[in-house]
Amino acid sequence: MSKILVIGAGGQLGTELTKALVNKYGKEAVLATDFQEAARSKFDYCRFETLNIMDKEALASMVQTENIQIIYHLAAILSAMGEKNPVQAWDLNMAGLLNVLEIAKEYTIEKIFWPSSIAVFGPNSDKENTPQRAFKDPNTVYGISKLAGEHWCEYYFNKYGVDVRSLRYPGLIGYKSLAGGGTTDYAVDIYHKAFEQGKYECFLSENTYLPMMYMKDAIQATLQLMDAPKEKISVRTSYNISGMSFAPTEIYQSLLSYFPDFKISYAPDFRQAIADSWPKSIDDRVAKQDWNWEPAFDLEKMTADIVENLPLYFNYNAIK
Ligand SMILES: NC(=O)c1ccc[n+]([C@@H]2O[C@H](COP(=O)([O-])OP(=O)(O)OC[C@H]3O[C@@H](n4cnc5c(N)ncnc54)[C@H](O)[C@@H]3O)[C@@H](O)[C@H]2O)c1
Repeated sequence: MSKILVIGAGGQLGTELTKALVNKYGKEAVLATDFQEAARSKFDYCRFETLNIMDKEALASMVQTENIQIIYHLAAILSAMGEKNPVQAWDLNMAGLLNVLEIAKEYTIEKIFWPSSIAVFGPNSDKENTPQRAFKDPNTVYGISKLAGEHWCEYYFNKYGVDVRSLRYPGLIGYKSLAGGGTTDYAVDIYHKAFEQGKYECFLSENTYLPMMYMKDAIQATLQLMDAPKEKISVRTSYNISGMSFAPTEIYQSLLSYFPDFKISYAPDFRQAIADSWPKSIDDRVAKQDWNWEPAFDLEKMTADIVENLPLYFNYNAIK
């Protein structure tokens, strides 16, 4: 059985993806890593080691001693955090990926997963149903690093045969962990505030439409892409994938049936400009054609699932 290394496993995506990998392949097959020792507490169900992805020697040694064949490289600085620390974001997002690609080339890693983002699109990209090959002019460091990263992935595939696969995730929404410094974090936070405080101040304006995806769909898409036969992967930069599109006012409305007294106010901050530069909806026909991608969750189904499950992970009272 192939041994899997997850890098940046302690984050919003890694917390859920690592669990899904253990459920699918067994705990012996998965090694979770993060540079934060504190992440260890999340992995009582599989092995955990600290690993800083900037340390290429440490990565090489782990790949050899653990006989790693598959890598999920998730460590990154996200859009909003990236704008506060642009050079640091560039360094981590680029050097981290290049370390993984180089090690994959050197030690003949079987497959790599690396997430890109809708942040690769920019103010002059098509906003509605943004095509796979849309014009791209990202204006955040995060988006620039993801676009460059996509081309590095394609380069390593074409030049060295490294089987690296990638998805342009939209905003990811899950209930098992908090969001990690992105522009779509409001759509995670709002559920917590509905339980905790009965009111929420949103950092994006009422009608800001963005592409979003429920974490269960994101995990499903990731596993499906990684399972797809190599010859079915026609995109070696990164695939557009789509789940749903909504604005803050719509997620608020979806919560009102569970929390009738819930209140929302709007105080857009610097993240509004980032959101305004991104697509409102995504055309994911290529992913559908190549490896049969199909999302299962819309906004109503997602809210029902989160409201039911969030209290199991955080210390909130369940809705009666
Ligand atoms: N969450 C989203 O909405 C979203 C959307 C599009 C793409 N993505 C991409 O998915 C991936 C995971 O995102 P996330 O939301 O889980 O992010 P996150 O910020 O929640 O998690 C990132 C993890 O990486 C770890 N990390 C940071 N620097 C590291 C280093 N030097 N070495 C090892 N680990 C390090 C952090 O400790 C953290 O646990 C990222 O590549 C991100 O760009 C996420």
